[in-house]
Amino acid sequence: MNASLNSCYAISDLKKRAKARLPKPIYEYISGGAEEEWTLQRNSDSFAQYCFNPRVLKDVSTIDLSTYVQDTKVKLPVLIAPTGMSRLFHYQGERAVCRAAAQAGSIYSLSTVSTCSIEEVAAESKGPKFFQIYAWHDRDMVFNFIQRCKQQNYNALLLAVDAPVFGKREKDLRNGHGNPLKLKINTALSALTKPAWLYRFVTSPKLAMANMLELLSEASDAFKVMDTVNEQFDPTITWEIAKEIQQKWQGPLWLKGIQSVEDAVLAAEMGATGIILSNHGGRQLDGAPAAMDILPEVVQATGNQIEIVIDGGIMRGADVVKALALGANACMIGRAYLYGLAAGGEAGVNRVFEIFADEMKRVMALIGCREVSELEPSCLKSLAKA
Ligand SMILES: Cc1cc2nc3c(=O)[nH]c(=O)nc-3n(C[C@H](O)[C@H](O)[C@H](O)COP(=O)(O)O)c2cc1C
Repeated sequence: MNASLNSCYAISDLKKRAKARLPKPIYEYISGGAEEEWTLQRNSDSFAQYCFNPRVLKDVSTIDLSTYVQDTKVKLPVLIAPTGMSRLFHYQGERAVCRAAAQAGSIYSLSTVSTCSIEEVAAESKGPKFFQIYAWHDRDMVFNFIQRCKQQNYNALLLAVDAPVFGKREKDLRNGHGNPLKLKINTALSALTKPAWLYRFVTSPKLAMANMLELLSEASDAFKVMDTVNEQFDPTITWEIAKEIQQKWQGPLWLKGIQSVEDAVLAAEMGATGIILSNHGGRQLDGAPAAMDILPEVVQATGNQIEIVIDGGIMRGADVVKALALGANACMIGRAYLYGLAAGGEAGVNRVFEIFADEMKRVMALIGCREVSELEPSCLKSLAKA
């Protein structure tokens, strides 16, 4: 472990380091949200709506964080959420993250808009892996991804259902998204002040939309192809299309981006393996609820019919413990691991897992729970005013 990473005790320390290393438009691409960033903020605040109901005088000398997600045993219930463009944040990109996830005994999720391909990640990863898919306009391309995931033995598909259109991320717009030349100039100017990042960026293979190299012209240049990719988001997506994808895949399917109790019930009725209660990290609908805001009702409405993972704003082991106490099977992290990646590549993501595991164990000991199965609503007290 890189000695300087050892002095990162919290995810916020890695965030500071990521900010110092990355050109501003790239840091803001990770950290920013849609419009007023109300939902982005709500994601964090929603965990503070609960405090613990600690029980003492229990033997907490051994804490076991392991649990099952789908039919897979994980060593800790902190999974990697799919995020695009990882090589932009650190030259090791998706390869580093999938290795770190396997080492931690977690599950890695690859984004459709990744900078390493379905095949490259499959070759690199020794652990379970999910692939996040969109129901894009070009269905042939979607079916091509599904076929390749089957060939490479991906354990599940995550269908992102929260992006019929693209969220209005104003920091990105100001930095030049939608205008490749402006984006390049802004990034280049800022990169001059970040020599370590710049050196790696210019000496690494060109950033590509790795899953589309054979399918889209210009996919070998991620900056150039960004607009073409954004045009793929399909506002006509319906439950029928989700079922069509389920039919083609014939394997475990999760719906990622469920934001209401009603849709959680429909997902269960459709026979989805699981749902990810998620508002895309506050990057899509500003005004969407945080996952924690709807989790108790979703659990009540769906019973044991479907597995539930939540994401959004998870920066502490305590956040994961609270989500599990309310009935989530596991949590996903996005920015938390991207800050680790940007701060220190694979070692940085290893550090993220260490911090989460350490914090979770400590919190569980302090509230008197030895196993994930002991986490239940009575471990928490709601601070919301009646
Ligand atoms: C930089 C960035 C890129 C993302 N790219 C994708 C993506 O390609 N596909 C997707 O389904 N979600 C994407 N997400 C959303 C994450 O999967 C996840 O829902 C979100 O990051 C969780 O919130 P958190 O970052 O607060 O942990 C992205 C998030 C970030 C921060």
